[in-house]
Amino acid sequence: MKTLILGNGAREHALAWANANSKRNSGLFCLPGNAGTMDIALNIPGSVTNIPFIVSMAKRSEAKIVVVGPETPLAMGVVDALSDNGIRAFGPGQRSAQLESSKTFGRELAQRAGVPTALSQYCRSVQDVMDFVQRNAGKTVVAKKSGLAAGKGVLESDKPDEIKQFAKHVIEEEQDTIVMESYLVGYELSIFAILDGQDYILLPACADHKKAFEGNKGPNTGGMGAVCPIPSADSKLFGVIEDTIIQPTISQMKKEQLMYCGVLFFGIMVTGEGPKLLEYNVRFGDPETQSLLPLLNCDIADLFEAAVTHSIKGFHCEFADKTAVGITIAAPGYPGAYERDIPVDTLPKTSKKMLLFHAGTTIDRSGKLYTGGGRCFTAVGIGHDYFEAHADALDLASKVKFNGAWYRHDIGKFFFE
Ligand code: AMP
Ligand code: GLY
Repeated sequence: MKTLILGNGAREHALAWANANSKRNSGLFCLPGNAGTMDIALNIPGSVTNIPFIVSMAKRSEAKIVVVGPETPLAMGVVDALSDNGIRAFGPGQRSAQLESSKTFGRELAQRAGVPTALSQYCRSVQDVMDFVQRNAGKTVVAKKSGLAAGKGVLESDKPDEIKQFAKHVIEEEQDTIVMESYLVGYELSIFAILDGQDYILLPACADHKKAFEGNKGPNTGGMGAVCPIPSADSKLFGVIEDTIIQPTISQMKKEQLMYCGVLFFGIMVTGEGPKLLEYNVRFGDPETQSLLPLLNCDIADLFEAAVTHSIKGFHCEFADKTAVGITIAAPGYPGAYERDIPVDTLPKTSKKMLLFHAGTTIDRSGKLYTGGGRCFTAVGIGHDYFEAHADALDLASKVKFNGAWYRHDIGKFFFE
């Protein structure tokens, strides 16, 4: 089966790696891909927001499935354009993509579905924001930009001035709206449902680490590492999450004709009062995917095909009885302004239990490798237990050498110690 993957991050490298290992792989294309995907797929230079070009490349490559990695092309309607041309895609059309591209849209659907969330309010003016702050005086609250923000449009604060400045920026300069929320205390899980338009299956729980620094301190990032699976997400907790969050959401999506073929990602906070929904995303998580896919024991081509041909019901997706820990290796300055195109001096040898996924890397004519974005690589260790996986991931990360490379040393610790 020929597959085209859109995106250039470490998530897309992991998706390409899993597809390259498929027995059914008869052609793998990445648009644009990165220096890592180059070794296993044919990279097609271009932009994931150039929809006519994507459609023409999907036709030329004769891809049976187009797998859309990032949210931006989904929000722009790439799946609608592909399906108008008779090409199957793994991902939602533009209408359903609003579950992620508009936090207001996602939050309102959750409310209609009766899904537990933080106390929230939609704010169209700075005054609305400040009224919410005043009603919650002295408490930490969360201000969220409604539109897409790559995981960085969220401010947690108990300082009215700081919140006002954020609100002014989002509402007056970016012309967006804000969702204000009460601050939830607990731990986060990322749960992925594979949807086939009618039914769904769930994949093992992962945990992302959003804060930049050790001990979950510092600013929010796109994700500094992830671990999979999570022992506390046992069948009991999973059952509660399915009954109170996943099933009600899917029923509501069916009622509102929002179901699609692809992945629905539930960002969940497990609080003292039970699990609550933080957000919906309509694509795989980054960095969760890099820790999830190495544990997949079935053929990913079969899984994607089952999703796009409406036959996920009863699809048996096995996962190895192991743990995977992924560590993000970031550029100096990230998540603030960071350096790009830093020459990479050395990369470690990888193996079946130590995988390195590139994010946005490029290579010049002489074969020299350069970093791309703020998150540059994910080093993944796969072990019989967390400790083995974590030690391998750290060992691998320490051998990725470029100026200013940094990473967290405590990914997953909270869940295992
Ligand atoms: P979101 O884009 O909604 O997932 O928010 C990004 C991150 O901000 C989440 O992964 C959490 O770490 C944090 N966050 C968002 N909403 C809340 C909340 N109501 N309470 C506590 N933390 C939150
Ligand atoms: N890891 C969180 C996300 O992909 O949004």
